[in-house]
Amino acid sequence: MDPKTTPEVGGMGHSIKRKEDPRFIRGKGTYVDDVQLPGMLYLDIVRSPHAHAKIVKIDTAKALAVKGVLAVITGKDLEKYNLHWMPTLMSDTQMVLPVEKVMYQAQEVAAVLATSRYAAADGAAAVNVQYDPLPVVVDPRKALEPGAPVLRTDKKDKKDNHIWHWEWGDKGATDRAFGEAAVTVKEDIYLPRIHVASIETCGCVAHFDKVMDKLTVWMTTQAPHAIRTVFALVAGHVGLAEHKIRIISPDIGGGFGGKVPVYPGYVIAVAASVLTGKPVKWIEDRMENLQADSFARDYHITAELAAKKDGTLTALRIKTLADHGYTDAAANPSKFPAGLFHVCTGSYDLKAAHVEVDGAYTNKPPGGIAYRCSFRVTEAVHTIERMVDLMAHQLNIDPADFRMKNFVKPEQFPYKSALGWEYDSGNYGGALKKAMDTIGYADLRREQAEKRKRGHLMGVGISSFTEIVGAGPSKHFDILGLKMFDSCEIRVHPTGKAIARFGTKSQGQGHETTYAQILAEELGIPAKDIQIEEGDTDTAPYGLGTYASRSTPVAGAAAAVASRKVRDKARKIAAYLLEAAEDDLVWEPGKFSVKGAPNKSKTIQDIAFAAYTNHPQGMEAGLEAVSYYDPPNLTYPFGSYICVVDVDSGTGEVKVRRFVAIDDCGNIINPMIVQGQVHGGLTMGLAPALFEEISYDEIGNIRGGSFIDYLLPTAVETPKWETGHTVTPSPHHPLGAKGVGESATVGAPAAIANAVVDALWHLGVRHIDIPITSAKVWKLLREKGVTE
Ligand code: CDP
Repeated sequence: MDPKTTPEVGGMGHSIKRKEDPRFIRGKGTYVDDVQLPGMLYLDIVRSPHAHAKIVKIDTAKALAVKGVLAVITGKDLEKYNLHWMPTLMSDTQMVLPVEKVMYQAQEVAAVLATSRYAAADGAAAVNVQYDPLPVVVDPRKALEPGAPVLRTDKKDKKDNHIWHWEWGDKGATDRAFGEAAVTVKEDIYLPRIHVASIETCGCVAHFDKVMDKLTVWMTTQAPHAIRTVFALVAGHVGLAEHKIRIISPDIGGGFGGKVPVYPGYVIAVAASVLTGKPVKWIEDRMENLQADSFARDYHITAELAAKKDGTLTALRIKTLADHGYTDAAANPSKFPAGLFHVCTGSYDLKAAHVEVDGAYTNKPPGGIAYRCSFRVTEAVHTIERMVDLMAHQLNIDPADFRMKNFVKPEQFPYKSALGWEYDSGNYGGALKKAMDTIGYADLRREQAEKRKRGHLMGVGISSFTEIVGAGPSKHFDILGLKMFDSCEIRVHPTGKAIARFGTKSQGQGHETTYAQILAEELGIPAKDIQIEEGDTDTAPYGLGTYASRSTPVAGAAAAVASRKVRDKARKIAAYLLEAAEDDLVWEPGKFSVKGAPNKSKTIQDIAFAAYTNHPQGMEAGLEAVSYYDPPNLTYPFGSYICVVDVDSGTGEVKVRRFVAIDDCGNIINPMIVQGQVHGGLTMGLAPALFEEISYDEIGNIRGGSFIDYLLPTAVETPKWETGHTVTPSPHHPLGAKGVGESATVGAPAAIANAVVDALWHLGVRHIDIPITSAKVWKLLREKGVTE
């Protein structure tokens, strides 16, 4: 698609509308916390200081004495309505409020309902809970040891902390390949727990209107329709039918996967609103968000890679232990408990692979969300890119040459990977070459050799990742049984303006702009004349929402298909108006003209008017269409990143000197938005590589529970990103486009980690787990005898 043909970029239409909506009055904002309704009540939540403890007593007397406090809601109150537990997205169960025991520090214990936010907070502070501490399990390896305390005592027959075992690939062929291999490398790789830390925390305003018998929830969700269905399934027995539920997701200040799950606060707010008939607002504070909401990663990986003597890769074997916290609330397609981790052969032509994953319960908040990543692809990419680098260094082959040798070659596409994925298109060598030329790779290697002689620590790291986005073909992909298609509905008004609504939900990715561009390109209606709307279940067609970079591959395709349906009808109307045969009409964006008589034409605006005023008899009036697009395959964006680091041998500080990112997301709809996505994604890749981790001490106290010790990169730590792209269209997507939103977050950490190991390889360093903090590097350097 040529963005130049659609210069009038519209967009942000819904934000403008919401700014004028009197319900959003706080600072004229457009976020959930800006929703103000008459008589609104507020919720604050009491949280557990213990990671595992029996609840002996909840004393609410003092809280109820606080002026403005109306009620204290406990698990026992919800139990009366069978709402104290709810299902997770992976069909496990999660507490809304506990009745017997708490399972992690900062878990919700009770909720205080009050007439003001301040009264609710004072009330929460006055609730006195007595606990009886229980043994805590924070290490998933210990959780699986015989004799470990069984955590999920609510599950009648559960005798251990093992959730599931899952494996994929040909074990026999992989073991044989390892038996025959000339060279093998093996490494333990840990990807720590991290948090999406989006700008806005989670929250909602639930409003049950007793007169209309209808529940409206303004809510920070990336998947409004799925949430509506889940609410109806969970609360149908208390009278909440799906047609009486409206979920509105306004601007939500970033989601990154963290706003896919249902959190207890939402459910308590809904229950409180249904019981009181008043609107109820619940907004988390920053520490609650960091400490209790779903986490990402927490994968303990052991990977092995096999190669021939000449450096031809042959096989990959991976065993992983996945820490899911106290419940499996991962946002994965239901068929794949480890998400798309089995795309772990990456960009390389491996003949055999086998992957095993075991899930374990621990006393931590639920983990396993797809943090700016298509269901565990970051874990897969980090593993293969670290392993390939390790093998290259082991064989003393330049890591760029090694990758070039082992890449899936352009002529091999469509390429069936050893783990069964069919990669749609790619030119991995092209992207790496462009990255090498941009950064001056050969010169950097010369500089490194020269600096090493002088004792300076400089490293160059590569990550040539392959992503897998756009879930999904519905025959393989569903969440809680809901098939993963997505939708677009277009209505062209009589005056030639249009509205298009989608089942996805932008969180800042600029859908209002790019979707309008797609329609403008397909229909020839200027983008400024197109209103784009998402996130309101009463108006938008059903869709599975936005996460895992699925919007462009799925809803973007739906936009093209729905536009083409509109165009097909427009052709019939044009033929009638021009008194010509349909086949004799020529389309150019914006009008149909008669072949050989270009002056005989009708614009899309003429046709739209006729669709309501002068349509052919026998044809239905109107000009609209809907597409529920079920992609035939996923799309496989890719890229090559090269990072240059200087390591300070005195302090251990890693400085990213340069970072070149060449991305390929097929045809680009909006270059500026894509570049913005890559810049943001790279910074979100730098973060876990060098700074971010949420860990726990042995009794389950959270470390990294506030921004004092959960270190987000600022402009000071963030290098200048040098970005570029290649274009390899997807053969099956109607626009040739692939997703891009998460590529950079997925690809960047390995480039940085590889650069640091490259800088320290000659000292005997083979691997460092991220985050590669100064303290970690300093300690390592001292261990290796580096003294300054
Ligand atoms: O699902 P999500 O919106 O997070 O991810 P995406 O589909 O990768 O798209 C992110 C943003 O980049 C959207 O505004 C897309 O329309 C835009 N994009 C683009 O302009 N061209 C592409 N080939 C891919 C995405």
